[in-house]
Amino acid sequence: MSDDHTHVQEFFTARAADWDRRFPDDAPAYAAAVAELGLREGGRVLDAGCGTGRALPALRAAVGPSGVVLGADLTPAMLREAARAGRDRDGVLLLTDVAALPLRSSSLDAVFAAGLIAHLPDPAGDLREIARVVRPGGVLALFHPIGRAALAARQGRTITPDDLRAEPNLRALLTRSGWRMTSYADEDDRFLALAVRAD
Ligand SMILES: C[S@@+](CC[C@H](N)C(=O)[O-])C[C@H]1O[C@@H](n2cnc3c(N)ncnc32)[C@H](O)[C@@H]1O
Repeated sequence: MSDDHTHVQEFFTARAADWDRRFPDDAPAYAAAVAELGLREGGRVLDAGCGTGRALPALRAAVGPSGVVLGADLTPAMLREAARAGRDRDGVLLLTDVAALPLRSSSLDAVFAAGLIAHLPDPAGDLREIARVVRPGGVLALFHPIGRAALAARQGRTITPDDLRAEPNLRALLTRSGWRMTSYADEDDRFLALAVRAD
C-alpha cells in the first residue's frame, strides 16, 4: 500500500460513519447523472470509488435484476457503511484499488466515478486501467454533486488553471488514457464529464 493510499484510507475512514448524513439530499443528482450513462436492462456497470454506495441504487435500477453492478473502493470503512445501508443488495462490493481492478478486459458497458479522480495518485494510469475493463464504445461518467467553484469555496481554496478537472486539462488527460470526452458540465450544483472508450 503506497503512502497516497494510506492517506486516502485515513481520510475516508474518519469520514465514513457520517458520509451519508453530511449529504442527505444528493440522491436525485446521482440518479440524474446515472441516467446520462445510457445503461440498458442487463447492462454491466462499475461504480469506481463507490464509497458508501450512494450511486448503487440508481445503477441497479438502470440495469435491472439481470444486470451486473459492482462497487469498488479502497477504504474498508466506506464499504462497511455501504453494507450497513443495505447497498450490497444493489451491487457487489469489491475492496480494491482502481489501479488494479480484478476484472476482465472489456467486460463492462460503463463506469461511474463520483468524487474519485482528485484522490488518484496517478490519474492517467488509473483512468487507463478503468478503460481496460470497459468495452470499446462504453461510457465513463466523472461526477460530483457540486461544481468545481462551489467545492473549492467549501474547502476554502480557489481554483487554479492547473486544476485536474478544468475542461482542457481533463480533455487531454482522458485522451491520454484511452477515452474521448463527449460532454463537460461544471455548474454550481453539478460537475459531470462524460467520455467514450476509444477503440
Ligand atoms: C469523495 S469519496 C466519494 C464516494 C462516493 N463515490 C460518493 O459519491 O459518495 C471518494 C472515494 O474514493 C475512494 N478511493 C480513493 N482512491 C481510490 C482508489 N485508488 N481506488 C479505489 N477507491 C478509491 C475513497 O476511499 C472514497 O471512498
